[in-house]
Amino acid sequence: MLIQLEAREFDWEVAPGRVVRGFGFNGQVPGPSIEAQVGDTLAVELTNRLAEPTTVHWHGLRIPAAMDGTESVQRAVAAGETFRYSFVLPDAGTFWYHSHVNETEQVERGLYGALVVRGPDDPALDAERILLLDDLKLDETGEIASFGDPHEHHAGREGGLLLVNGRSDAGLEMAAGQIERWRVVNVANTRFVRLSIGAQIFAVIGTDGGLLPAPLRVREILVTPGERVDLAVGPFTEGEEIAIEALGYDRGKGETEPARLATLRVGAAEPSRAKLPDSLRRIEPLVSADVEPTRTIDMKALMHGGHGQRDTPVRVGELQVWELVNETGQDHPFHLHGFFFQVLDESAPTAWKDTVNVPRKQSVRVAWLPDDRPGAWMYHCHILEHHAMGMMAHFDVVR
Ligand code: C2O
Ligand code: CU
Repeated sequence: MLIQLEAREFDWEVAPGRVVRGFGFNGQVPGPSIEAQVGDTLAVELTNRLAEPTTVHWHGLRIPAAMDGTESVQRAVAAGETFRYSFVLPDAGTFWYHSHVNETEQVERGLYGALVVRGPDDPALDAERILLLDDLKLDETGEIASFGDPHEHHAGREGGLLLVNGRSDAGLEMAAGQIERWRVVNVANTRFVRLSIGAQIFAVIGTDGGLLPAPLRVREILVTPGERVDLAVGPFTEGEEIAIEALGYDRGKGETEPARLATLRVGAAEPSRAKLPDSLRRIEPLVSADVEPTRTIDMKALMHGGHGQRDTPVRVGELQVWELVNETGQDHPFHLHGFFFQVLDESAPTAWKDTVNVPRKQSVRVAWLPDDRPGAWMYHCHILEHHAMGMMAHFDVVR
């Protein structure tokens, strides 16, 4: 499969009649949804029509280092240039792609899209939709607010205009009696979304690295920047009007006001053929929760470390148990490029993740096994302003 992506400026209509100067892949936000089967080879030709360099990072894909789309593994694609990415899609799940250069601006302006990889074990539900959750910070004139406000370096950039798939106050429709799979991605620079679907119960069936072992029934779920959740939603009754909301959450900057992302209207009933099995997948735990960490990452030091930090290399095949210690006053979504980890938390199901929130004044332990993909990798906070200010480290995977 060959996909052409052209990064360029365009008039982004965020609401009927409201246009801002966006950066989009192929002149749209989100960029085209890429849908494939596990095992497919995906080739993407990126052409840069912006006035500044860019790259594309394939968030969550376990691909060779050279294809990771960061400036540690490639020269940024200069204005007017083309770069070809090509790799095999090893895992089924909900992934996304986004710019990895001047991200705070390029991602805010819209350089992101969904990448869905289907596998043989996907449950058969009635329908499927992709929901990319975002927010936009506008100035008094209605344009995207300028970048580099010093307050944002520390607090992150949150905007008052909430977007689903690049549109504010999106109206969604769904047939009564059906169960849908919703693939949800938080693509916001900073905003944490404590997701509620009309305060009703839904099932979480997957997360960053694909299906969970079993559906988990909840009434809300926290989705931090970079994270994905796959949900089984419904059935609803005809005539219901359901608020899809970000509930209040305090990430260390005070409790946010609940805010509506979109409204779901339930139409006439359609027959359902959905089958949600009790067991979705087997995931072997990598280690038991009380194992000794092999490395401690002090997120406070990371936050104040500045650019170019290097962490010690990791050897292929050597189990990693990382203790992520957050002594700062805010939550940080920790993202590891190119590999999945398991969060060692007895209260949560075993799952494959690439991004995990480390709440303030808490620690989170993760385990992962570097498979044979040597090269330059990185981890960072997925609050893009924190990443930009240097809350990141490079490390090598070596044989
Ligand atoms: Cu989605 Cu380096 O990140
Ligand atoms: Cu952070």
